[in-house]
Amino acid sequence: MKILLDTANLEDIKYFNTYYPIEGVTTNPTILSAEGGDVIALLMQIREIIGKDKELHVQVTEEDFDRIMLEAKALVSLLGNNTVIKVPVGDVGLKVTKALSSEGYKVTVTAILTGAQAMLASNAGATYVAPYVSRLENICDDGVRCVKDIAKIFEVSKSNTKILAASFKTAREVLDVAIEGAQCATVSSSVMHRLLAHTTTDTSIEGFKKDWLGAFGNTTLLELINLRNK
Ligand code: E4P
Repeated sequence: MKILLDTANLEDIKYFNTYYPIEGVTTNPTILSAEGGDVIALLMQIREIIGKDKELHVQVTEEDFDRIMLEAKALVSLLGNNTVIKVPVGDVGLKVTKALSSEGYKVTVTAILTGAQAMLASNAGATYVAPYVSRLENICDDGVRCVKDIAKIFEVSKSNTKILAASFKTAREVLDVAIEGAQCATVSSSVMHRLLAHTTTDTSIEGFKKDWLGAFGNTTLLELINLRNK
Protein backbone atom coordinates (compact mmCIF):
# COMPACT_ATOMS: atom_id res chain seq x y z
CA MET A 1 0.00 0.00 0.00
CA LYS A 2 1.39 3.39 -0.98
CA ILE A 3 1.69 6.03 1.76
CA LEU A 4 1.13 9.78 1.49
CA LEU A 5 1.72 12.39 4.19
CA ASP A 6 -1.34 14.18 5.56
CA THR A 7 0.08 17.55 6.62
CA ALA A 8 1.06 20.99 5.33
CA ASN A 9 3.83 21.46 7.89
CA LEU A 10 6.95 22.25 5.88
CA GLU A 11 9.44 20.86 8.40
CA ASP A 12 7.52 17.57 8.59
CA ILE A 13 7.25 17.39 4.80
CA LYS A 14 11.02 17.98 4.40
CA TYR A 15 11.76 15.33 7.02
CA PHE A 16 9.47 12.60 5.75
CA ASN A 17 10.23 13.33 2.10
CA THR A 18 13.92 12.82 2.90
CA TYR A 19 13.69 9.68 5.00
CA TYR A 20 10.41 7.91 4.22
CA PRO A 21 9.09 6.47 0.96
CA ILE A 22 6.15 8.85 0.61
CA GLU A 23 4.26 9.16 -2.68
CA GLY A 24 2.97 12.64 -2.03
CA VAL A 25 1.24 15.04 0.33
CA THR A 26 -2.45 15.52 1.06
CA THR A 27 -4.02 18.64 2.50
CA ASN A 28 -7.48 19.87 3.35
CA PRO A 29 -8.77 23.26 4.55
CA THR A 30 -8.27 22.27 8.21
CA ILE A 31 -4.68 21.13 7.59
CA LEU A 32 -3.86 24.37 5.71
CA SER A 33 -5.55 26.48 8.40
CA ALA A 34 -3.30 24.88 11.03
CA GLU A 35 -0.24 26.39 9.28
CA GLY A 36 -1.86 29.79 8.55
CA GLY A 37 -0.04 32.59 6.70
CA ASP A 38 0.19 32.85 2.92
CA VAL A 39 -1.53 29.65 1.87
CA ILE A 40 -0.63 29.96 -1.82
CA ALA A 41 3.07 30.40 -0.96
CA LEU A 42 2.75 27.42 1.39
CA LEU A 43 1.33 25.16 -1.35
CA MET A 44 4.07 26.29 -3.74
CA GLN A 45 6.72 25.50 -1.11
CA ILE A 46 5.23 22.03 -0.59
CA ARG A 47 5.45 21.44 -4.36
CA GLU A 48 9.05 22.66 -4.33
CA ILE A 49 9.97 20.23 -1.54
CA ILE A 50 8.31 17.12 -2.98
CA GLY A 51 9.23 17.86 -6.61
CA LYS A 52 7.04 17.77 -9.69
CA ASP A 53 6.53 13.99 -9.86
CA LYS A 54 4.85 13.39 -6.50
CA GLU A 55 1.17 13.99 -5.90
CA LEU A 56 -0.07 17.04 -4.05
CA HIS A 57 -3.75 16.76 -3.10
CA VAL A 58 -5.49 20.08 -2.56
CA GLN A 59 -9.16 20.47 -1.63
CA VAL A 60 -11.39 23.01 -3.34
CA THR A 61 -12.91 25.76 -1.21
CA GLU A 62 -15.46 27.15 -3.68
CA GLU A 63 -18.98 25.70 -3.47
CA ASP A 64 -20.59 26.58 -6.81
CA PHE A 65 -19.90 24.23 -9.75
CA ASP A 66 -18.49 26.85 -12.14
CA ARG A 67 -16.33 28.44 -9.42
CA ILE A 68 -14.99 25.02 -8.32
CA MET A 69 -14.02 24.26 -11.93
CA LEU A 70 -12.13 27.55 -12.15
CA GLU A 71 -10.48 26.96 -8.77
CA ALA A 72 -9.44 23.40 -9.67
CA LYS A 73 -7.89 24.45 -12.97
CA ALA A 74 -6.12 27.40 -11.33
CA LEU A 75 -4.65 25.04 -8.72
CA VAL A 76 -3.35 22.64 -11.37
CA SER A 77 -1.81 25.50 -13.41
CA LEU A 78 -0.15 26.85 -10.27
CA LEU A 79 1.04 23.56 -8.76
CA GLY A 80 1.58 21.30 -11.76
CA ASN A 81 0.09 18.23 -13.36
CA ASN A 82 0.56 15.95 -10.38
CA THR A 83 -1.87 18.06 -8.41
CA VAL A 84 -4.93 16.06 -7.44
CA ILE A 85 -8.10 18.03 -6.83
CA LYS A 86 -9.95 17.02 -3.68
CA VAL A 87 -13.70 17.43 -3.85
CA PRO A 88 -16.02 16.62 -0.94
CA VAL A 89 -18.61 13.98 -1.83
CA GLY A 90 -22.10 15.38 -2.58
CA ASP A 91 -24.21 16.30 -5.59
CA VAL A 92 -22.01 19.21 -6.70
CA GLY A 93 -18.95 17.10 -5.90
CA LEU A 94 -20.13 14.33 -8.24
CA LYS A 95 -20.86 16.82 -11.03
CA VAL A 96 -17.40 18.36 -10.59
CA THR A 97 -15.80 14.90 -10.58
CA LYS A 98 -17.54 13.96 -13.84
CA ALA A 99 -16.47 17.22 -15.49
CA LEU A 100 -12.86 17.30 -14.24
CA SER A 101 -12.18 13.62 -14.91
CA SER A 102 -13.59 13.87 -18.44
CA GLU A 103 -11.10 16.69 -19.07
CA GLY A 104 -8.23 14.53 -17.78
CA TYR A 105 -7.81 16.03 -14.29
CA LYS A 106 -7.11 13.76 -11.30
CA VAL A 107 -9.78 13.92 -8.60
CA THR A 108 -9.93 12.63 -5.04
CA VAL A 109 -13.48 12.46 -3.77
CA THR A 110 -13.11 13.05 -0.06
CA ALA A 111 -15.13 12.78 3.18
CA ILE A 112 -16.34 9.32 2.12
CA LEU A 113 -18.16 7.50 4.93
CA THR A 114 -20.01 4.71 3.05
CA GLY A 115 -19.52 2.19 0.29
CA ALA A 116 -22.45 3.77 -1.56
CA GLN A 117 -20.74 7.17 -1.66
CA ALA A 118 -17.54 5.52 -2.91
CA MET A 119 -19.46 3.66 -5.63
CA LEU A 120 -21.05 6.90 -6.90
CA ALA A 121 -17.72 8.73 -6.78
CA SER A 122 -16.07 5.95 -8.76
CA ASN A 123 -18.87 5.97 -11.34
CA ALA A 124 -18.36 9.73 -11.68
CA GLY A 125 -14.71 9.11 -12.65
CA ALA A 126 -12.84 9.67 -9.36
CA THR A 127 -9.13 8.82 -9.44
CA TYR A 128 -9.27 8.20 -5.67
CA VAL A 129 -11.90 7.98 -2.98
CA ALA A 130 -10.86 8.95 0.55
CA PRO A 131 -12.81 7.03 3.22
CA TYR A 132 -12.42 8.56 6.71
CA VAL A 133 -11.44 5.63 8.93
CA SER A 134 -11.11 7.24 12.38
CA ARG A 135 -14.11 9.51 11.93
CA LEU A 136 -16.18 6.33 11.47
CA GLU A 137 -14.52 4.61 14.45
CA ASN A 138 -15.28 7.72 16.54
CA ILE A 139 -19.03 7.26 16.04
CA CYS A 140 -18.98 3.54 16.92
CA ASP A 141 -18.99 2.61 13.23
CA ASP A 142 -16.35 0.44 11.54
CA GLY A 143 -13.87 2.42 9.39
CA VAL A 144 -11.82 -0.59 8.38
CA ARG A 145 -15.00 -2.46 7.40
CA CYS A 146 -15.97 0.51 5.21
CA VAL A 147 -12.63 0.27 3.37
CA LYS A 148 -13.12 -3.49 2.99
CA ASP A 149 -16.59 -2.93 1.48
CA ILE A 150 -15.25 -0.34 -0.96
CA ALA A 151 -12.41 -2.65 -2.01
CA LYS A 152 -14.95 -5.40 -2.72
CA ILE A 153 -17.29 -3.08 -4.65
CA PHE A 154 -14.39 -1.82 -6.79
CA GLU A 155 -13.15 -5.34 -7.40
CA VAL A 156 -16.60 -6.61 -8.48
CA SER A 157 -17.23 -3.63 -10.77
CA LYS A 158 -13.64 -3.64 -12.05
CA SER A 159 -13.37 0.02 -11.09
CA ASN A 160 -10.17 1.92 -11.85
CA THR A 161 -10.72 4.18 -8.83
CA LYS A 162 -8.17 3.70 -6.05
CA ILE A 163 -8.84 3.79 -2.34
CA LEU A 164 -6.86 6.51 -0.55
CA ALA A 165 -7.79 5.69 3.04
CA ALA A 166 -7.61 8.75 5.31
CA SER A 167 -8.28 10.05 8.80
CA PHE A 168 -6.21 7.72 10.99
CA LYS A 169 -5.60 7.97 14.69
CA THR A 170 -3.63 4.73 15.10
CA ALA A 171 -0.95 2.83 13.20
CA ARG A 172 -3.04 -0.32 13.60
CA GLU A 173 -5.84 1.22 11.51
CA VAL A 174 -3.33 1.91 8.73
CA LEU A 175 -2.14 -1.69 8.78
CA ASP A 176 -5.72 -2.97 8.79
CA VAL A 177 -6.74 -1.00 5.68
CA ALA A 178 -3.60 -2.24 3.91
CA ILE A 179 -4.71 -5.80 4.66
CA GLU A 180 -8.28 -5.08 3.52
CA GLY A 181 -7.32 -3.80 0.08
CA ALA A 182 -6.66 -0.03 0.19
CA GLN A 183 -4.10 0.85 -2.50
CA CYS A 184 -3.04 4.05 -0.68
CA ALA A 185 -3.34 5.69 2.72
CA THR A 186 -2.58 9.21 3.85
CA VAL A 187 -1.27 9.51 7.38
CA SER A 188 -0.34 12.31 9.76
CA SER A 189 3.23 12.85 10.94
CA SER A 190 2.55 11.32 14.35
CA VAL A 191 0.96 8.17 12.92
CA MET A 192 3.81 7.94 10.38
CA HIS A 193 6.38 7.84 13.22
CA ARG A 194 4.32 5.16 14.97
CA LEU A 195 4.25 3.00 11.81
CA LEU A 196 8.03 2.66 12.03
CA ALA A 197 8.84 2.75 15.73
CA HIS A 198 9.27 -0.38 17.83
CA THR A 199 11.04 -0.63 21.18
CA THR A 200 12.33 -4.14 20.35
CA THR A 201 13.88 -2.76 17.15
CA ASP A 202 15.65 -0.15 19.31
CA THR A 203 16.95 -2.71 21.80
CA SER A 204 18.03 -5.02 18.96
CA ILE A 205 20.07 -2.24 17.35
CA GLU A 206 21.58 -1.33 20.73
CA GLY A 207 22.57 -5.00 21.15
CA PHE A 208 24.30 -5.10 17.73
CA LYS A 209 26.25 -1.94 18.63
CA LYS A 210 27.29 -3.24 22.05
CA ASP A 211 28.45 -6.64 20.72
CA TRP A 212 30.41 -5.07 17.85
CA LEU A 213 32.05 -2.56 20.15
CA GLY A 214 33.02 -5.37 22.59
CA ALA A 215 34.69 -7.42 19.83
CA PHE A 216 36.09 -4.82 17.38
CA GLY A 217 35.97 -1.47 19.15
CA ASN A 218 35.06 1.59 17.06
CA THR A 219 36.41 0.18 13.78
CA THR A 220 33.72 -0.23 11.13
CA LEU A 221 33.49 -2.82 8.34
CA LEU A 222 34.23 -0.06 5.84
CA GLU A 223 37.42 0.84 7.65
CA LEU A 224 38.50 -2.84 7.78
CA ILE A 225 37.89 -3.23 4.02
CA ASN A 226 39.83 -0.03 3.29
CA LEU A 227 42.71 -1.27 5.45
CA ARG A 228 42.83 -4.61 3.56
CA ASN A 229 42.74 -2.84 0.17
CA LYS A 230 45.71 -0.58 1.02
C1 E4P B 1 -7.33 13.59 4.04
O1 E4P B 1 -6.58 14.48 3.64
C2 E4P B 1 -8.36 13.86 5.06
O2 E4P B 1 -8.88 15.13 4.83
C3 E4P B 1 -7.80 13.72 6.43
O3 E4P B 1 -7.09 12.50 6.53
C4 E4P B 1 -8.85 13.82 7.51
O4 E4P B 1 -8.23 13.53 8.73
P1 E4P B 1 -8.89 13.88 10.15
O5 E4P B 1 -10.15 13.08 10.30
O6 E4P B 1 -7.84 13.47 11.15
O7 E4P B 1 -9.17 15.35 10.16
